[in-house]
Amino acid sequence: MKKSLVIGANGQIGSDLVLGLANRVGTENVIATDVKPGNHGEVIFELLDILDAEKLKEIIEKYNVGTVYLLAALLSATAEQKPMAAWKLNMDGLLNVLELAKEGAIDKVFWPSSIAVFGPTTPRDNTPQTTIMEPTTVYGISKLAGERWCEYYFNKYGVDVRSIRYPGLISYKAEPGGGTTDYAVAIYYKALQEGKYECYLEENTYLPMMYMEDAIKATIDLMHADKEKIKIRSSYNLAGISFSPIEISEEIKKHISDFSISYAPDFRQEIANSWPKSIDDKRAQEDWGWKNSYELNSMTSEMLEGLKSKLNITDSN
Ligand code: NAD
Ligand code: SER
Repeated sequence: MKKSLVIGANGQIGSDLVLGLANRVGTENVIATDVKPGNHGEVIFELLDILDAEKLKEIIEKYNVGTVYLLAALLSATAEQKPMAAWKLNMDGLLNVLELAKEGAIDKVFWPSSIAVFGPTTPRDNTPQTTIMEPTTVYGISKLAGERWCEYYFNKYGVDVRSIRYPGLISYKAEPGGGTTDYAVAIYYKALQEGKYECYLEENTYLPMMYMEDAIKATIDLMHADKEKIKIRSSYNLAGISFSPIEISEEIKKHISDFSISYAPDFRQEIANSWPKSIDDKRAQEDWGWKNSYELNSMTSEMLEGLKSKLNITDSN
C-alpha cells in the first residue's frame, strides 16, 4: 500500500490528522514530518522543511508515498507580522508539492484553504461557495492564490488535488499556531486554569468554527471519495458551528459557573471583521456527502473533559 505523508504534522491539525489517518489506513502507512522535531508514537517521523524540494522528493521515494497532506503554513495573525515569510512558505511549499504531483511522483494532494479567502466585500451570512473574494490579509491572499494554483494544476496537468476551506478549528491535543480564531481554544484553557479569560475579539464577533473531530473526518472522507465526485478543485466551503465570544463563554459557564470573560480587542478584530459569520457548504454535502456532527454544547463538553485530562486538572481543583 502506498503511504500517506503529513507535512507540518506537529501543528494543531497535524497532531490529530496523523492519528486519524493511522486509524483509517494503519500506523505503518503514515509518515509524519515537520520542520521541528516531533513525536507521533509508533508513526514514523522525519524532519522536513517543505521549502527543501530535494529532501521532499527523497522522502516520497524512500517511503513510497502516494498521498501528501500539506499542512505547513503561517496562519492569519502570524502572517500579518511576517508577510514575506508567510507568502514564501504558503506559496513555495504548495508549488513544491504540486510540481512533484505533476511529475507523477505522488498520486494525490490535500492542501487546506481557509475562510480567510473571503474579504469585507463578501456576503458574510451563509457565504456561498462561489462569491466575491477580495481578502485583505496576507494569509487570505496566499490561500486564494493557492486555490487558483490547485485548480490550475488539476485543469492543466490532471493533478488530483483536493481542498477544504476550513473554518476556525477547535481542539485540545496541540495548541493552535497563530490564527485569529485561536481565542476559541485559549478560552477553554483559561477557563480551567484561571476561571477567567480576556478575549482579543469583541463579544458579538461571529465566526465560522468547527471541532477538530469533524475537520479530520471531513479531510479523510474527501481524500477517500471517488475522484468523479470531486467537482471543485479550488476548495470546498465547509460549515460547522458559528458562534461569538459571548456565546462560547455562556456555554462554558454551564460547566464552570463562576467563569468570567472580558474584552480587549486588538489587531485581530479587523481580520475577524473581514471574514464570514457563517458558511454555506451545500456543495460539499452534495458532492461527497459531508455532514458535521458537533454543536457548541457537545464540543464544549469534550474540550473541557479533554483538557482536564491533558492538564491533569481534577474536579476538586
Ligand atoms: P499550525 O501552525 O498549528 O501547524 C503548522 C505546522 O507546520 C507546525 O508544526 C510547524 O512547525 C510546521 N512548519 C512550519 N514551517 C514549516 C516548514 N518550512 N516545513 C515543514 N513544516 C513547517 O497550523 P495548523 O492550524 O495545523 O494549520 C495547518 C494548515 O491548515 C495550514 O495550511 C492552515 O492555513 C490551515 N488552516 C488551519 C485552520 C485552523 O483553524 N487551525 C483553519 C483554516 C486553515
Ligand atoms: N484559523 C485560521 C486563522 O485564524 C483560519 O484559517 O488563521
